[in-house]
Amino acid sequence: MRFKPVLNAMLGAALAATVASAAAARAADDANPFTGDPDAIAEGKRLWAQTGCYACHGKEAGGAVGPDLTDDQWVYRPTDATIFKAIAKGRKGTNMVGWSSSLTDEQIWKVIAYIRSLYKGDPGKIIW
Ligand code: HEC
Repeated sequence: MRFKPVLNAMLGAALAATVASAAAARAADDANPFTGDPDAIAEGKRLWAQTGCYACHGKEAGGAVGPDLTDDQWVYRPTDATIFKAIAKGRKGTNMVGWSSSLTDEQIWKVIAYIRSLYKGDPGKIIW
């Protein structure tokens, strides 16, 4: 039987590709895999409340001590990677601390999906 090792090798390669793409989806450089996903947005909303983001950004992210996250005014160009980094690592010299010890990468992406769902700015400025 010669085809079995070949089959195993093919399965192995397919598995490796799946694992690699799952890891890539979690990397901060990538686009958010959860944008527009209703389940992820609901989970992101729950995490937003649980983690206490609302304390500075407001219940619906409309802004308070921290900036409004629903308009089209951003501190930096709001790519997914930039927003991910702000949440994971914080912004030095501001009240925005990093949350990577409370939230996994996947949870951060879900919170971002929630934030994107609240967007009320100019639709023409959407770059995510
Ligand atoms: C103690 C107050 C505080 C808390 C709590 C807080 N933030 Fe912030 N956040 C800030 C401040 C202040 C800034 C502005 C930082 C700057 O000037 O770059 C900011 C910036 C941001 C930005 C970038 C906005 C932009 O225009 O670039 C995002 C996204 C964000 N916060 C999301 C979150 C999320 C998600 C949470 C909860 C996990 C959270 N914040 C919790 C105060 C807070």
